[in-house]
Amino acid sequence: MLERLKDTPPDALLALIAQFASDEREDKIDLGVGVYRTDDGATPVFGAIKAAEQRLWEEQDSKSYLGPEGDRGFVHALMPIIFGSDATMGGRIEGVQTPGGTGAVRLAVALAERAGVNRVFVGTPSWPNHIPIIEDVGLEAVTFSHSNEDGSADADALIEIVRQGREGDAVLIHACCHNPSGIDYTDEQWDAIADALANSPVLPIIDSAYQGLGTGLEEDSAGLRKVLAKVPDALIAYSCDKNFGLYRDRVGAMYAKVADPAQMGAAMSNAAALARANWSMPPDHGGAAVRIVLRDEDLRQQWLEELDGMRKRLRWVRATLAGADNKVDGVPLAHLEEQNGLFAMLPLNKDQIARLREDHAVYMAGSGRINIAGLTKGNIDKFIAALADVAA
Ligand code: LMR
Repeated sequence: MLERLKDTPPDALLALIAQFASDEREDKIDLGVGVYRTDDGATPVFGAIKAAEQRLWEEQDSKSYLGPEGDRGFVHALMPIIFGSDATMGGRIEGVQTPGGTGAVRLAVALAERAGVNRVFVGTPSWPNHIPIIEDVGLEAVTFSHSNEDGSADADALIEIVRQGREGDAVLIHACCHNPSGIDYTDEQWDAIADALANSPVLPIIDSAYQGLGTGLEEDSAGLRKVLAKVPDALIAYSCDKNFGLYRDRVGAMYAKVADPAQMGAAMSNAAALARANWSMPPDHGGAAVRIVLRDEDLRQQWLEELDGMRKRLRWVRATLAGADNKVDGVPLAHLEEQNGLFAMLPLNKDQIARLREDHAVYMAGSGRINIAGLTKGNIDKFIAALADVAA
């Protein structure tokens, strides 16, 4: 039976991790998979998380099962951060813990499918795992353009596809720090998107994986909140992997907003049943650490300061690249300063990307995406020179 299986290529982004590790050149630069790095190139555990883990180690007296919804304290502690002070919107928002943001997207798409969705609109380019998840759930992914040539977000394309949408359609929207382009909708565009969705049967599925890494913790949720204020139903996939630095601990949550609190029981029981069939229950450790951080005033403050530091560093990298615009012919860099988060797309062809890797030990995704957090005071000049070389 199993001989019927055909080889399938490894995920190109994850394959870069191994390729980079086996390169022996000392000055190699990793701009591949999306992890934050300090100016020393490290991805340390947050101090606030370390302290919470210590407390967890001291206080946790059982590792017995919790249930498919995971740690409710974690799920609820996050809600004011994501949704603001009216975090449940009068009992109309509730959620479950998931294994990372990927688990949250998976659960949201599967729940949408149970509710009758059969097509999901996706602005492209998008995170390379979005369409595989949609298709693996058995839904059709219909693409539209996320951005314009000039580096602005193409809200008109989203609004147009929403206008054409019908019952049984959903649209996947990035809340902030668009992956892979870094191009986010402006406030005015979010208003127009929220209005379009308010007058449409299309279900919004909002993926928020980078809150706090764009322009600010509140600012990065503003668009999501504008949509939720106007639409009856929505699903939100949330990741703590980046903003709490918990990548491998797989920490996320999936929230549903329903039109009437009376519908919440059905939404959550279906989410729990899908979680049970997929992974039974989410890993506990990272979510418990986040709960401890968010419930303790000092640790919460420490976390906010650490997150501020990350965001400032990302803005420094963006400003430095933008300042080098005149040093690199053919690869515009000035607009990177207006974009947000970990990623940017560079208009490089396959040959230029291969030369960056082979001649300069610079590793980036084949799509032209760079993880800007891989750039530091120590390597950014080398990167700009390498870019100028391959672009010449
Ligand atoms: C990325 O896009 O690099 C991250 O979201 C990591 C991943 O799982 O792909």
